[in-house]
Amino acid sequence: MEKVYIFDTTLRDGEQAPGFSMTTEEKLQMAHQLAKLGVDVIEAGFAAASKGDFEAVNLIAQEVKGPVICSLARALEKDIELAGQALAPAERKRIHTFIATSEIHMKYKLRMSPEEVLERTKKAVEFARRFTDDVEFSCEDATRSQRDFLYKVIETAIKAGATVINIPDTVGYTVPEEFADLIEGIRNKVPNIDRAIISVHCHDDLGMAVANSLMAVKHGARQVECTINGIGERAGNAALEEIVMALRVRKDFFGGLYTTINTKELYRTSRLLCRITGSFVQPNKAVVGDNAFAHESGIHQHGVLANPLTYEIMSPEDVGFPSTRIILGKHSGRHALKSKLKEMGFDFSEEDLDRLFEKFKALADKKKEVYEEDLEALVYEEFARHELEEPIKILHYQVQTGDKLLPTATVVLIFRGEERTATATGNGPVDAVIKAIQKALGIEPKLLDFSIKALTPNTDAQAESRLVIELDGVKASGRGVDVDIIKASVAGFVDALNRAILRKNYILSREELRREGTV
Ligand code: KIV
Ligand code: ZN
Repeated sequence: MEKVYIFDTTLRDGEQAPGFSMTTEEKLQMAHQLAKLGVDVIEAGFAAASKGDFEAVNLIAQEVKGPVICSLARALEKDIELAGQALAPAERKRIHTFIATSEIHMKYKLRMSPEEVLERTKKAVEFARRFTDDVEFSCEDATRSQRDFLYKVIETAIKAGATVINIPDTVGYTVPEEFADLIEGIRNKVPNIDRAIISVHCHDDLGMAVANSLMAVKHGARQVECTINGIGERAGNAALEEIVMALRVRKDFFGGLYTTINTKELYRTSRLLCRITGSFVQPNKAVVGDNAFAHESGIHQHGVLANPLTYEIMSPEDVGFPSTRIILGKHSGRHALKSKLKEMGFDFSEEDLDRLFEKFKALADKKKEVYEEDLEALVYEEFARHELEEPIKILHYQVQTGDKLLPTATVVLIFRGEERTATATGNGPVDAVIKAIQKALGIEPKLLDFSIKALTPNTDAQAESRLVIELDGVKASGRGVDVDIIKASVAGFVDALNRAILRKNYILSREELRREGTV
């Protein structure tokens, strides 16, 4: 059994992509989550790129314990010096220095001869070793570099003290078989390669970043550089969650290689990145997409309910996904309906279920997808004996926030006819107002999922919030839409709370009727 090290570059290569920039605070939050996920190395930034980057690397080096903290640096003394300074407080630190080795990069970008590149490699690595024993060297554009020259550069870097040699497919040009051959070539032709770990860093321009990385691992690479959700320059980098789950699910194929990633944190990490950057992963994204564990067809639903392994090669729990999502639609059977109702907390007799199934089929013929809300309406229409008025109504709220203010919210609401007021502070305005609502109600539901997205790409766009909560064992989802994101979040949260409370009341009232023998 051999370990494959996971080097996360979400905060460096990932953050370089348009639309993914993060503030220092956000990077720190993300770095803490990456540590919880168990990555081996966090590339926290490129210290010499800007003052902000320096500060982020420095703050993460001070605060985040566990993984090795790394900074990128060109093969220049001033870059390496800044990386060394920014990393100084880290428990474990790595300097990652690089220079291009392909003819096209040397000629047009660096305007350097191969001899000069060799000399620069030696000097940069030796200089980096003054700051730390852990020095990684990358041959930028390795996959378009002349092989013998590449081998020479690698040998020079190792002789100078590099402990990790990274082979980037900088422009996402290679294909799996060719990349495997390159890794084999490095292992066979670089005389001192046994003194370093081979790392790979693949871009996704042709959609092969993950396949190329895995093939390299199969052929001897023991570190993979990747990002959460595959974000990164242009088409992105290899997706961390896909690499990790492929190695785990197909350990039979990969000869027992393993990572020490806590896979149960994968979904949470993916969602945190989305929340921080305001981005979304496509629904069909492997491992963390909304549909990754969703089943719509009746045959698949029946199979999964009988034994999840029929149509799932990994379980949603393995990656921390809320649960398998049975999508109810016209293809769904009675079995799936029963299971969904049970998940919502409803337990019906076979006779009642027959009545509901008929109504459900009629609705599914008219609607593409039958949501929880639709089912709830069906149930209440058919069987409700209790008050259906929404128990919580927001009368008014006010939020104060700013770059120098602790976000504070005050809420006035009506709960079962009684007016209540509460004030709370939070990490942000949404957090503050949600905490104030909870305080006013005296309840603390578990927030299982929360996302907010703009429905169109303008600053005055409508925002849509979607939440899933759990209150007293009842799960409920809520949705809110408004041009104001705080209002949309409040509406979604209150919607979910009202559903959970109504559902709980309904369940209790049915239990009472059952005890009386009425149903
Ligand atoms: O893609 C690339 O070549 C890089 C290097 C700096 C490692 O990101
Ligand atoms: Zn890159």
